[in-house]
Amino acid sequence: MAKFTIFFLCFSVLISILITCSAVDTIAVNQTIKDGDTLVSADQTFKMGFFSPGTSNHRYVGIWYNQISVCTVVWVANTETPLNDTSGVLFTVSQGALQLVNGNNSAIWSSNSSGSVTTSGLVARLLDTGNLVLIDQGSLVWQSFDYPGDTLLSGMRIGVDLISGKRRLLTSWKSEDDPSAGQYVFKVDPNGYPQLFEMQDLVPRSRFGPWNGVTFNGMPNLGYNSKFVFNETEIYYEYELANNSPVSRMHLSLDGKIQLLNWNNRTQSWTISLTARIDNCARYGICGPYGICNINNAPACSCLEGFEPRRPEQWNLADWSGGCQRIKPLACGNGDGFRTMSGIKFPDTNHSWYDLNMTLGECEAVCKRNCSCTAYASLDIRSGGCLLWFDDLMDIRVYDESQELHIRMPASELTSPTIPESGSNKKKQTIIIVVSTSLGSALVCLILALYAAWRKKKRSRKTRLDLVEPRDENYTNESRKEDAELSTFSLSMIAKSTNNFSLNNKLGEGGFGPVYKGVLEDGREIAVKRLSETSRQGIDEFKNEVGCVAKLQHRNLVKLLGYCIQGDERLLIYEYMANKSLDLFIFDTSGSSMLDWPRRFRIIHGIARGLLYLHQDSRLRIIHRDLKAGNILLDKEMNAKISDFGLARRFSGYETEANTNRVVGTYGYISPEYAVHGLFSVKSDVFSFGVLVLEIVSGKKNRGFSQEEHNNTLIGYAWRLHKEGKSLDLVSPSLRPSCIDSQVLRSIHIGLLCVQHHAEDRPTMSSVVLMLGNENALPPPKQPAFFTEENLGKFDSTSSVPTLDSVDEVTITLLNAR
Ligand SMILES: *[C@@H]1O[C@H](CO)[C@@H](O)[C@H](O)[C@H]1NC(C)=O
Ligand SMILES: *[C@@H]1O[C@H](CO)[C@@H](O)[C@H](O)[C@H]1NC(C)=O
Ligand SMILES: *[C@@H]1O[C@H](CO)[C@@H](O)[C@H](O)[C@H]1NC(C)=O
Ligand SMILES: *[C@@H]1O[C@H](CO)[C@@H](O)[C@H](O)[C@H]1NC(C)=O
Ligand SMILES: *[C@@H]1O[C@H](CO)[C@@H](O)[C@H](O)[C@H]1NC(C)=O
Ligand SMILES: *[C@@H]1O[C@H](CO)[C@@H](O)[C@H](O)[C@H]1NC(C)=O
Ligand SMILES: *[C@@H]1O[C@H](CO)[C@@H](O)[C@H](O)[C@H]1NC(C)=O
Ligand SMILES: *[C@@H]1O[C@H](CO)[C@@H](O)[C@H](O)[C@H]1NC(C)=O
Ligand SMILES: *[C@@H]1O[C@H](CO)[C@@H](O)[C@H](O)[C@H]1NC(C)=O
Repeated sequence: MAKFTIFFLCFSVLISILITCSAVDTIAVNQTIKDGDTLVSADQTFKMGFFSPGTSNHRYVGIWYNQISVCTVVWVANTETPLNDTSGVLFTVSQGALQLVNGNNSAIWSSNSSGSVTTSGLVARLLDTGNLVLIDQGSLVWQSFDYPGDTLLSGMRIGVDLISGKRRLLTSWKSEDDPSAGQYVFKVDPNGYPQLFEMQDLVPRSRFGPWNGVTFNGMPNLGYNSKFVFNETEIYYEYELANNSPVSRMHLSLDGKIQLLNWNNRTQSWTISLTARIDNCARYGICGPYGICNINNAPACSCLEGFEPRRPEQWNLADWSGGCQRIKPLACGNGDGFRTMSGIKFPDTNHSWYDLNMTLGECEAVCKRNCSCTAYASLDIRSGGCLLWFDDLMDIRVYDESQELHIRMPASELTSPTIPESGSNKKKQTIIIVVSTSLGSALVCLILALYAAWRKKKRSRKTRLDLVEPRDENYTNESRKEDAELSTFSLSMIAKSTNNFSLNNKLGEGGFGPVYKGVLEDGREIAVKRLSETSRQGIDEFKNEVGCVAKLQHRNLVKLLGYCIQGDERLLIYEYMANKSLDLFIFDTSGSSMLDWPRRFRIIHGIARGLLYLHQDSRLRIIHRDLKAGNILLDKEMNAKISDFGLARRFSGYETEANTNRVVGTYGYISPEYAVHGLFSVKSDVFSFGVLVLEIVSGKKNRGFSQEEHNNTLIGYAWRLHKEGKSLDLVSPSLRPSCIDSQVLRSIHIGLLCVQHHAEDRPTMSSVVLMLGNENALPPPKQPAFFTEENLGKFDSTSSVPTLDSVDEVTITLLNAR
């Protein structure tokens, strides 16, 4: 009897604690949580308690967001064993487990964990991360993060513990009303080189991967700070949110879509920020071995170049599962070669082999030596490494990826020039003028010299009326520029400055060679681009081209300091940009807080001025053709500098971050007339600029942006908000505190004018600079050009898209020397 009284007392004390102080975040030994009671994490972010999902009357113990108006459950304990009434009680048991019992005191669910024998120190605590942990004497006994449901929160992992064999995966709910296991599972598959698989009723449905150091190949970068660990003890994927980032969660929807959702405090709803594409081509192995899927082709499947359908009759009846076979057999020992492809999702790495330390050259050699090696690729876009395939190449699709796959082919197949291809019709594009030869370079320089002389003469007669665009402090004395001497550097000096091109100094890998950071003896920091073998050209031609580019000087262009030619080495030396590229700041929440609105507005201005210079004020009309966030570099003071301009693709400049950015692609920036007709003009750059402005304001990528009801593009979304007079909703949450509404609205408006469907409706860069700098009324934008990713994918296979240009083509487009 006495015992009962004591228990009763404890119990009522607990109740009063729960009533008077709602912010209890722990359950100590002998305490209970009844239906109606809750735990709240210390910082109030998460709440735990009993709930009924949707229209269900069943009761579950779960964790949800405490400060969000839409009840969003992120974790459920008793998914398979709901309570039928409100009699449930949750408590810690003395052996170190958490247990849920029904009204008859029989266990419904248990954490099945065990702690030490003495249990006075046992507590269950709901952490600020949303993790429910069970701690015994200070050591972790159990945590809810080890048992994910359909939601991956920041800090949660999916993967495999190779020691215990324990797997963590996401499982979709059965329905809105039922959190028990539905038909979809999203998991890391540990076979070969690990990849992500989405399973539908235990059958692979879609595959993403392999991990390329930044993201999973064939998938947009869902997490902000994504991390993939793969070593002898464990394989897992996780992402982390920065402290001040918006509330986000990764979620496997009822219909099997893996998506990243952000809470929009303004609209009080979840918005889909990114989603992995699940379309017909995402169906695992739809085109069979050596087949390639292009969602915009009819039929979607074709064979890789040099392959033919294995069973033509079935193939023609749209049964592609048999795949393709080689037209000419491999010679094996007798000099097989490799065909390089990009713009694709890499094949299944289920039977692959990798080495983190090998160079691409060694990788090729190893693959060449072994007849059963079918392809090789660089493993990590930042640090190299080697990935080898030892099987039929399976599950390839056209996808906006710049990573290159080298496919083993008999030498006889490789005699014709190879255009990266996807098996579809290869439409010939109209190229206006592309200078790709040394003769071209020499010609350009000659024209340059003549033009400079002519312009000098003309300038002396020029009246003030000619000056349409504003001149500002960015324009340095032109005649001084013309005389600017390009330095030559010795190889030994550069080698010393880069620590002998050490890996530690490597900033990144561009398409045509690695970029290293160096420090000259006088303390100046430099970025050194070491051109790879494929980009070798003669000394005179090289000097010539470099000389032309060096004459383009403007505060908002990355400056070429000099070059080095010695033996086989060709190096380009650029000023070092301490803050790398813009994409690292605007799309990444930890970085985005470092760029407040005034800084961003300054960056928009800077890009506009740099582009205006290229279009009008340099002596050549230069079209950049590849303007994107990754090509905007930032110096110490966060001044924007355009890189990768006016250079041949064969040594395409200071590309420190271009590669990481390429993962998400360039297609989002391409104007319709360029995508459809291969036509480009200064107005194509204006289009890219408009996209960039919208991205800077919203912190979202145009490419990969997903809002199904808004045609899948950022442009479409911005247009809709503009029409509804809600443009400010576009603003990235991290910008809101510093945002100056009038400037933001103006920027969005200008961005929309720049992405007009018809080139003639877009302003010139000189108008853009003017519009940015004053408060005059702006013309209303018409409906802009927005096509969905699917539309754009159509052009993945044609040669009109810059990232797929053949090696000899040149980025610089010289419409006319003025
Ligand atoms: C709830 O009710 C169903 C059927 O009425 C029963 O099978 C199940 O065991 C009950 N669950 C609990 C936790 O009592
Ligand atoms: C509890 O036990 C009683 C009697 O055995 C039974 O009628 C009732 O359905 C049980 N309730 C639950 C929730 O299992
Ligand atoms: C705990 O163990 C029981 C019995 O082995 C099992 O039915 C139950 O699913 C386990 N619970 C958890 C959360 O693993
Ligand atoms: C919990 O309750 C048991 C039995 O009622 C008691 O023996 C034990 O001392 C209690 N533990 C704590 C930490 O209060
Ligand atoms: C594997 O990676 C994890 C996380 O980085 C690390 O804690 C662990 O020690 C690593 N194991 C080995 C064997 O390197
Ligand atoms: C939403 O906005 C309100 C008012 O601006 C603010 O108090 C609250 O903290 C915000 N909530 C979240 C989750 O950001
Ligand atoms: C990967 O390979 C393993 C072992 O060979 C096989 O069991 C599994 O089915 C393969 N998975 C896929 C998706 O092909
Ligand atoms: C790769 O290089 C690192 C550092 O140089 C070294 O520690 C590691 O053992 C190497 N791994 C292999 C597989 O050679
Ligand atoms: C080629 O590679 C496969 C798979 O790693 C291996 O089993 C085989 O022994 C290798 N053959 C030669 C000749 O090295």
